[in-house]
Amino acid sequence: MAESSHALSFPITQTQEHRLLFTRGVFAPDNLTLASVLTPREPGENVRALVFWDGGLETAFPGFGARIVAWFAARGDTVKLAAEPVALAGGEQVKNDFSQLERIWTAINDSGLCRHSYVIAVGGGAVLDLVGFAAATAHRGIPLVRLPTTSLSQGDGGVGVKNGINFFGKKNWLGSFGVPHAIVNDLSLLHGLPVRERRVGLIEAVKVALIRDAKFFEFIEARVDALAKFEPEPFEAVIRESARQHMEHIATAGDPFERGSARPLDFGHWAAHKLEQLTEFRVSHGEAVAVGMAIDLIYARRTGLLPEAEAERILGVIQRLGFELFAPVKQIRGPSGRQDMLDGLEEFREHLGGRLTIPMIRAPGVRLDIHEMDGPTVKAAFDELRERYG
Ligand SMILES: NC(=O)c1ccc[n+]([C@@H]2O[C@H](COP(=O)([O-])OP(=O)(O)OC[C@H]3O[C@@H](n4cnc5c(N)ncnc54)[C@H](O)[C@@H]3O)[C@@H](O)[C@H]2O)c1
Ligand SMILES: [Zn+2]
Repeated sequence: MAESSHALSFPITQTQEHRLLFTRGVFAPDNLTLASVLTPREPGENVRALVFWDGGLETAFPGFGARIVAWFAARGDTVKLAAEPVALAGGEQVKNDFSQLERIWTAINDSGLCRHSYVIAVGGGAVLDLVGFAAATAHRGIPLVRLPTTSLSQGDGGVGVKNGINFFGKKNWLGSFGVPHAIVNDLSLLHGLPVRERRVGLIEAVKVALIRDAKFFEFIEARVDALAKFEPEPFEAVIRESARQHMEHIATAGDPFERGSARPLDFGHWAAHKLEQLTEFRVSHGEAVAVGMAIDLIYARRTGLLPEAEAERILGVIQRLGFELFAPVKQIRGPSGRQDMLDGLEEFREHLGGRLTIPMIRAPGVRLDIHEMDGPTVKAAFDELRERYG
C-alpha cells in the first residue's frame, strides 16, 4: 500500500514566442502580414478565423468592416472567415457589460470555431481585453491574433499578455494571462485617432523609458515638441519603441505572468487606477497615469530618491507632451478627492496580493522598488501638485 502521504512532481516547460509584426494598411487586399501568421495547425489544413472589431474604426475609417470581408475574400480557401465579422462598441463600457462576453462566445459557438481556428481581435485596448478573455475561455483557449488600433494598445496594452473584463464593479476582475498567437500593429490606424486618444500612448512610452532606458527617455525629450504635435515620424517611432520595450520587459524580466509583487510597468499606476475609478472613467487611463507619475516623481524628489533637477526635467517633458498634471483630479465628484485618491495605495497593496511594491526611479532608466510610502509625504506631494498645477 502507498504511504499515507507522498508527492509527485513533473516539470512542464514550454517556450512561447511573443510576436509582433508592424505593417500599414493591414486589410489592403494585397497585404499579406496577417495571412503570414494565420498558419494552419496541421499541414494542408485550411484556416478558419472569426473577426471581432471595434466599431469606432468605422467612424474613423468608413468602409473598414467591408475591407475586412474583402481581404478574406482575396485569400480564397486558404484563410476563410468562419462567419461575418462582428462589430463591437469600442471603449471601456464594453468591458462592463457581461452580455458582450456572451455575445462573443455565442458567435464562436455558432460558427463552430475550434482550437485549430483563430479569433482575431481588432480594436482599442477595451475590445482587445474583452475578446481576448472570450477567446481564452472558449474551448479552453482558441489562438488569438490581436490587431491593436489605438496608441495605448499598440504601445502597451495590446502587446502584453493579459486580458480581462470588469466585474463586481471592479476593473479587470475577470481575466487571464496568456501569450497571444501573434500581434499585428498597423501604424496607419493611429492617424485616425482623436487627439486625446493619440496622446495617451505617449505617457506609457515615457513610463517605460523612465523605468528601463535613459536613452529612450532622451529620444522622447529631444523630440518633445514634434511629439506634442503628433508629427507622424517621431510619433510612430515612439509607439514602436514603446511596444518593443514593453514586450522585451515581459519576455526577459522574469515574471511575465505577475506571480511576484513587483510591477515595474505600473510606475505611477497606483494613483492612476484610483483616479480612473473615482472619476467613473471620465479620466482615461493615460491621462490618469500622467497625474500618477507626477505624484510619484514629486514623492521621489521629496524623499531624496530623485534629484530635483531630474524630477523637474521629467515633469517638464510630461507637460510639454500636453498632459494636464492636476486638472483630471478636479473631475472627482465629491469633497474628499485627496483622501479618496490616497486610499489607492491600500487598494494597490491588495491588488498585489499583500506586500506593497511601488516602482520608483532614481534617474531616467534607473528603477528601484520601495515597499512603503510615507503617508504625510504622499499628502505633501499631492498638495504640491495642486499648488503648482491646479
Ligand atoms: N491587457 C492589458 O495588459 C492592458 C494594459 C493597458 C490597458 N488595458 C486596457 O485598455 C483599455 C484602454 O484601451 P485604449 O486606450 O486602447 O482605449 P479604448 O479601447 O477604450 O478605445 C478608445 C476609443 O477609440 C476608438 N478607436 C479604436 N481605434 C481607433 C482608431 N484607430 N481610430 C479612431 N478611433 C479608434 C474606440 O472605438 C474607442 O471609442 C482599458 O480598458 C485598459 O484597462 C489593458
Ligand atoms: Zn498603464
